Amino acid sequence: MERIAETLTILSEADKEACDLPRISEDELTVGRKRLYIESYGCQMNFSDSEIVASVMRNAGFATTSEVTEADVIFLNTCAIRENAEQKVRNRLQQLKSLKKKRPELLVGMLGCMAERLKTRLLEEEKIVDIVAGPDAYRDIPKLVEEAETGQKAVNVFLSREETYADISPIRLNSNGITAFISIMRGCDNMCSFCVVPYTRGRERSRDAHSIVNEARELVEAGYKEVTLLGQNVDSYKWASEDGSEKVNFAQLLERVAQLSPDLRVRFSTSHPKDITDEVLHTMARYENICKYIHLPAQSGNNRILKLMNRTYDREWYIQKIDRIRAILGEDCGISHDMISGFCSETEEEHRDTLTLMEYARYDYGYMFAYSERPGTPAAKKYADDVPHDVKIRRLNEIIALQQKLSLERNQRHIGKIQKVLIEGPSKRSAEDLCGRNDQNKMVVFPKGNLQKGQYAYVRITDCTAATLMGEAVL
Ligand code: SAH
Ligand code: SF4
Ligand code: F3S
Repeated sequence: MERIAETLTILSEADKEACDLPRISEDELTVGRKRLYIESYGCQMNFSDSEIVASVMRNAGFATTSEVTEADVIFLNTCAIRENAEQKVRNRLQQLKSLKKKRPELLVGMLGCMAERLKTRLLEEEKIVDIVAGPDAYRDIPKLVEEAETGQKAVNVFLSREETYADISPIRLNSNGITAFISIMRGCDNMCSFCVVPYTRGRERSRDAHSIVNEARELVEAGYKEVTLLGQNVDSYKWASEDGSEKVNFAQLLERVAQLSPDLRVRFSTSHPKDITDEVLHTMARYENICKYIHLPAQSGNNRILKLMNRTYDREWYIQKIDRIRAILGEDCGISHDMISGFCSETEEEHRDTLTLMEYARYDYGYMFAYSERPGTPAAKKYADDVPHDVKIRRLNEIIALQQKLSLERNQRHIGKIQKVLIEGPSKRSAEDLCGRNDQNKMVVFPKGNLQKGQYAYVRITDCTAATLMGEAVL
């Protein structure tokens, strides 16, 4: 049951199809250097942070390894968004116990959101843990490791109002050499009542626009073809130079990155419905290389529930945003969502409002979750988690089933059309096939011919499932 609640997604189905990525940027294992193994959980922000951590650790003399058994230090970069996200990490710690028994000098560190949420409690609850570092403490990690090497437990969970790691050049982990994430802001000020993120990642702050554009430029120079600009709420990106003479909003940042090269695809995630502006949509329309795909989490289709969630928009506002997207970017623009089933006091009728909103929006895909109460959040303090587990799961399954149907319908629209696909590598199912994403972020699989990873291919779509488009290259 729990697994259904956690998994959902049409997107993770697509990821199963995803390319078999060669691992190219693991550090060389230099003899004599200490080795760091890092495992990431949760959202893309965490995966991106792990690349910052790898960079900080490299400067402290650690090479990364993909073999957990070779590591001197193991970091788990954790997520706290739902209870089962934390459970997954605790299970992983259990597995690591045997390694630590064999080599007591092995250090285990907990980073990220679960570390920030539980702080020193983690050390009491999980004896195997030596180091606890929150998302704003990564510059301090070498010092924490040194402390732990002397046999002490080491903790830094201070949240910062300024830290953006702007000057740290990430080490691309598990990279395909084609697509990369760039973190443009940190934290969140929104206080959605169900959400733990404002407590684990602190106040919202935007990173220096020049450092973002420089990072994107370096990626272009290194042969990367796609960047995804990351933040919990990218549309509220706002940066000003110290003397206030230069101000950059998200639409302007997007434009600066898109102008680096017409060959560089630009994506972004996540947009909050209250903040996405016509200016952003018009900027997307102006640049062929800004992908026509928007992740626009709704969470619910019912106004009473949206109010309890403190999402600050209502169903009508959300629908009007969908209409603006379709008016400015056309019917084909990909739109995806996040939905939560069984939030506190949600009735059957209110759940049906979520289903009708999905029908209206005709989403391409979605990430769907059963509500999981998080200690300390406004919802946990104010509202009873009173929808029975089996009802949450049944509603979740109805949401997933509807999304499957919508995804299939939306994918069928592409049949017979030619799509521009950025080739990411061989398909998982067959070495004879390549795969890559189209503009709308949909995975496309096609016979490889003479084409190669990193090229753009034009593919005529001949067939599809709810998760994948299939076709043949025409150019
Ligand atoms: N900043 C993004 C969301 C980040 S968290 C936004 O506001 O859109 C990713 C998703 O996890 C959320 O959109 C929500 O659907 C889900 N989520 C967050 N807290 C949850 C909880 N307590 N229970 C279930 N799902 C939750
Ligand atoms: Fe959480 Fe809401 Fe912030 Fe998203 S916008 S991270 S759901 S508080
Ligand atoms: Fe999880 Fe933290 Fe991301 S709670 S979803 S890793 S911001």
